[in-house]
Amino acid sequence: MKFIVLVFMVLMGTFLNAFAQTYRPNYHYTPPKNWVNDPNGLVYLDGEYHLFYQYNPFGDKWGHMSWGHAVSKDLAKWETLLLALPEIQNPDGSTTMIFSGCVVVDSFNTSGLFNAGFKKGLVAVFTSHVSKPGQDLAQHQSLAYSSDKGRTWKYFNKNPVLDIGLTNFRDPNVIWWPSEKKWIMTVVKPLEYIVQFYSSKDLKKWDFMSEFGKQGDTTKIWECPSLVKVPVENSKDSKWVLMISSGHRQAAYLAMQYFVGDFDGKSFKPQKQNEIFYLDEGKDFYAAIPFYNLPKTQKNPIIIGWTNDWEYANDIPAGEGYRGGFSVARKLSLYTTDGVIKLKQEPIINSKVKTETLALTKNYVLNSSLGKKTQNSYRLILDIDLTSSKGFDLQLLKYENQYLLLSYDVSTKIFSVDRTKSGKVDFNKRFSSVETTKILPKNNKLLLDILVDKSIMEVYINGGKVVFTELTFPDNQSTSEVFSFF
Ligand code: FRU
Repeated sequence: MKFIVLVFMVLMGTFLNAFAQTYRPNYHYTPPKNWVNDPNGLVYLDGEYHLFYQYNPFGDKWGHMSWGHAVSKDLAKWETLLLALPEIQNPDGSTTMIFSGCVVVDSFNTSGLFNAGFKKGLVAVFTSHVSKPGQDLAQHQSLAYSSDKGRTWKYFNKNPVLDIGLTNFRDPNVIWWPSEKKWIMTVVKPLEYIVQFYSSKDLKKWDFMSEFGKQGDTTKIWECPSLVKVPVENSKDSKWVLMISSGHRQAAYLAMQYFVGDFDGKSFKPQKQNEIFYLDEGKDFYAAIPFYNLPKTQKNPIIIGWTNDWEYANDIPAGEGYRGGFSVARKLSLYTTDGVIKLKQEPIINSKVKTETLALTKNYVLNSSLGKKTQNSYRLILDIDLTSSKGFDLQLLKYENQYLLLSYDVSTKIFSVDRTKSGKVDFNKRFSSVETTKILPKNNKLLLDILVDKSIMEVYINGGKVVFTELTFPDNQSTSEVFSFF
């Protein structure tokens, strides 16, 4: 009898542990199955936030690019809807994949695509990528439209609407410019590190206005540009921010850079900056774009990014049938420091996420079981007083000798995230890595707002002035979080 009970307990243990090891996040959106990359067409309409995204309906690796669709009322809980924009088989045997783009609300029916007087028409502006097996034929910008809040779509019958004869020309992001009643498209020539601005009265005919580029980080191609107005905190000012997905501080990885400047409806002029500004110091934040048409009361833009890195994106564990996901929504604001204006990001997060807030001073040793209690899905807010300490180590998602390590060295001011011992790392040799960046403490303190969600970790430091987003694949359900000063 004892033996049977023992066998039963061992089996149950194995079962429970297998269950606990799931990598699917709880409060970050992931698709029910298959591959995702960039968020597309982020738009708010009638109490609903829409998240469209690059999606492969047929598998868990990149391919057959189409737009998937999810909606949320609070940016926290998402509901997956039917496929929005499927890839197209053309009569000549070529295929048009639906690459990244945006969605606008055509409230004045400038496009004429809707019934007269209809104010809630959605227009998707996306890159139509035409190819035949082994051959890329064209990239141009095209339209699709929906009269039922994104539930069903029609492709415009005169696509494409912007074609400059290139095979690399993509990722349109469109805003409305009220003073001239025109649309402005920000789009990129990836291989040339050039962002172009076009204008249009009807979303169908586009005129070139200006371009910006060949500066900042040009270590990787440029993708997914967007131009967004962001308030400067503690002032009545706002500035234009140009976000571009491109290279990372560390060679050959991907990240996002941004420029802060002025935009007069025609061209973008950046402020003088002596260094490259990255939105996120981690390896897994890319292709973020802002929401269009946020309620007027929401003065700050909100973005969502893809939590993955093309360096290993197709190889990350996908045992649960899906591959890739998205960051939590982030509110953007600007602040001034040493005469330059920079971005900070604040997570918008479900109040149901189990949260622990702690103030840590000298000699504090934290040994928490938050991860164990929440099955690796929690928020940990640490206010760390560095007076009389040389730095600290924080081991997250710890199970025996496996953990994700966050540390800070007071003498060098280097903050680092080390996932070399974090669990599964060998599915791609580029995955195991350490990220570092310099951070100055504020009043001798570092404030860490850490979001841990099974396989995604986002840490917002000092009010979101520095952010790291990292994937991590622990082999076991964690038993503790261990913090120690040194
Ligand atoms: C960025 C990107 C875009 C492109 C899309 C294709 O991750 O390469 O430039 O439109 O993904 O899926």
